Parts: sequence; structure tokens; C-alpha cells
Amino acid sequence: MNGLSNKRIIVGITGGIAAYKSAELVRRLQDHGAEIRVVMTPGAEEFIRPLTMQALSGHAVHTGLLDEKAEAGMGHIELARWADLLLIAPATADFVASMVHGKADSLLGAIYLATQAITAVAPAMNQAMWHHPATLDNIAILQQRGVTTIGPDEGSQACGDVGQGRMESPDNIIKHAASFFSHRLLEGKQVVITAGPTREAIDPVRFISNHSSGKMGYALAAAAVDAGAKVILVSGPVAIPVPERCQVMSVISADQMLKASISASASADFFIATAAVADYRATSVAGQKIKKQGDTMSINLTKNPDIVSAVSKAYPDCYVVGFAAESSDVENYAKDKLQVKNLNAIIANDISHADIGFNSDENEVTWIDATSSTFFDKRSKTQLARDLIAHMAASHSAQD
Ligand code: C5P
Repeated sequence: MNGLSNKRIIVGITGGIAAYKSAELVRRLQDHGAEIRVVMTPGAEEFIRPLTMQALSGHAVHTGLLDEKAEAGMGHIELARWADLLLIAPATADFVASMVHGKADSLLGAIYLATQAITAVAPAMNQAMWHHPATLDNIAILQQRGVTTIGPDEGSQACGDVGQGRMESPDNIIKHAASFFSHRLLEGKQVVITAGPTREAIDPVRFISNHSSGKMGYALAAAAVDAGAKVILVSGPVAIPVPERCQVMSVISADQMLKASISASASADFFIATAAVADYRATSVAGQKIKKQGDTMSINLTKNPDIVSAVSKAYPDCYVVGFAAESSDVENYAKDKLQVKNLNAIIANDISHADIGFNSDENEVTWIDATSSTFFDKRSKTQLARDLIAHMAASHSAQD
């Protein structure tokens, strides 16, 4: 069940007899590659010890809202932001009611209010409590607010009753949890992206570079992470924040970018070259700052290696996408590069418009591959990145 790999899940445990099943739930979620943090209410601690959950999850269990030590580690707001999914299992009738009323008197209640993550509850209670109109109304209110209910199941209960109210089995809860993420187009794929400029030293204080901001590459990295991929960003020097959950290999020169790209791409499914690699570097780098001399001076330059071509040559099974920034005859030049660099696709943009491309927040591009050409009109780089990642995933599977 790939949908859960690398997902960050808070398992919230409240005080019911079904809490013992949460141990298996945590274990099984981890088997599917999810990263787990456990939050327990004081009631839950009456049924299962935090130490058990700590041993299973490999992380300290969060129990109290006013626990200074825990707040200094990962505080409740940080936890709320960290999660992709808040999964409350078991959810007692009392806890469901407190969610309806927005009560933040427990750590779990506060996290529920603070999180933007998908939230699901697996109710567990006596069958009469489940069928009480108050509980059913509370569940209906939570559902209207976007909380998913998983179960409860029917059968014999710990109290001796038979009916609906048993916590859903860990297996079914996991299937449900995975379905929240199953639309992700690059689940289980590895993507390497080069971004930003390179800097080619002339002497200890000077270099050749360009104005690339890295925004397009970083936006693609964020979109690929959102689509479920494991992403390595091979980045030249830029001044923008690294997207969450990307591994970054920071480089300066084209030579370093080449080495990092080759080593990062050994098991990559996709390589996307957005970097504005300096075409040339100084043939020799002066050891000392070069002194002013006459009115003119010249520096000998040597051509840099072509990184995207090197990757496509080294890894023929990798789906390789390049960028072509052109100021005239855009499609023809781009098609040439598609051939010469042996790419699966090239994304061409016309840099003769000042309001798109290089340093701006917007872009408009044409995706060109062996069989098709698709125009993406002007939109934010964030939106464009999402659309390009979706197009890339579709083109890749169409090719298989
Ligand atoms: O040849 P040109 O620089 O126009 O090609 C642009 C494409 O090739 C971009 O995808 C860029 O990242 C990549 N490139 C590269 N290594 C170079 C030059 C360009 O990977 N040395």
C-alpha cells in the first residue's frame, strides 16, 4: 500500500478499551512506510502505557498540553503543522463530543484545532452510546466539517453487548488512511531536480554567474513532493527557502552540479534540469585576487560539461526533462535541444517577455516531447509546477 510511504501521521489515542489495538495500528502503519508520532489523552493512559507506544513508534509519546519538555521538543503547534494525517483511533464518544465543541483542554484537542492535516476518527464505544442521537449528531457535525469517520464495526463488545461500536480493524483503518493519498501521481518515484545558477570562480573573490532565482526548480521540487515522490534537489546558490521534505545537495560550480547529479540519479525515475548552468568557466582559477591592469583584460574560458546530457547518457531508463529558455524561434530551438541532449521532453519558454521566466513569479511554457506539444499559458510558477508534474507523470506512463 504505497499511499502511506513517507506520510507523517499523528495517531491520537483516547481512553477506550480499543486503545490496545492502537499498538498494532502504529506498528502496521510503520510497516507501510509512514512516519508516526503518538499523542495520548490522559484517559488513554489508563488503558495502554505511553512506554509501549514509545517503544513501537520509536519516538517520545506526547501526552500533556503543558509538558514543558515535550513543548520544547516538538510543541503542539509544530506537531499540528508536521502532520499529513491526524488519525484518532480509538475516538471515544466523549472525545468526539469535545471535537464538536472545539475544546482544547487536552493536547490532542489542541492539535485537532490547530492542524490543517486530513483528520479521521475511528470511533469505539458501547453500541448504545454509538446509537445515541447525541453521538450520531456529533459525528454528522464532524463529517460536515470534513472529518472522515472510519467505522465503527459490528460484533461482540468488551462490555458483553453485541452491535455496532467496535473500533474498525487496524487493517481497514490502514486501507482507509492509504486512500487519502492514493491520488498521488508520483508515489514511490524518485525525482532529481537541478535548480538555480552555477557560480564559476575566476579568483578567490570573483565569479561568473547569472540571475537565475531557482524559483521554477524549487516549485517543481515542492510539486513532486506533493505528488508523493522522493525528491533530491541539486541546487546552485539561491536565496529562497528549501521546500519541505526534499533532500538538498548544495553545489556551487557546474562541475560540482554534474558530480552531484550523477550520484543522485543512480536510482532516479525522473531527472528535471531547471538549472541555469554557466556555459563556460575560467580555464584556470587564479589563486590570488587578480590585480587591476590595463584598460582591457581577457579571461580564457572553457566550456562546462552538459549536465542533463550526461545524466541521460549515464541512465538511459531515467525519464529526462530539460528546459530551453529562448528569445526567438522557441519551438525549433527547443526541438533541436530535445534531440541533441537526448531528452524525453523539453519545456520551452520564451524569455523575450519581461514579465515571465527567469526571475519572475510567473511563467508560460510549452512542453515538447517526441509525439506532442502542449502549451501552458501564463500562471504562477507554483501552479505551473503542479501542472507540469502532472503532465510529466501522464507522459511517462503513456510511454510505458
Ligand atoms: O543548452 P542550454 O543551456 O540552452 O540548455 C538548457 C537545458 O540544459 C536546461 O535544462 C539546463 O538545465 C541544461 N543544461 C545542463 N548543463 C549545461 C547546460 C544546460 O544541464 N551545462
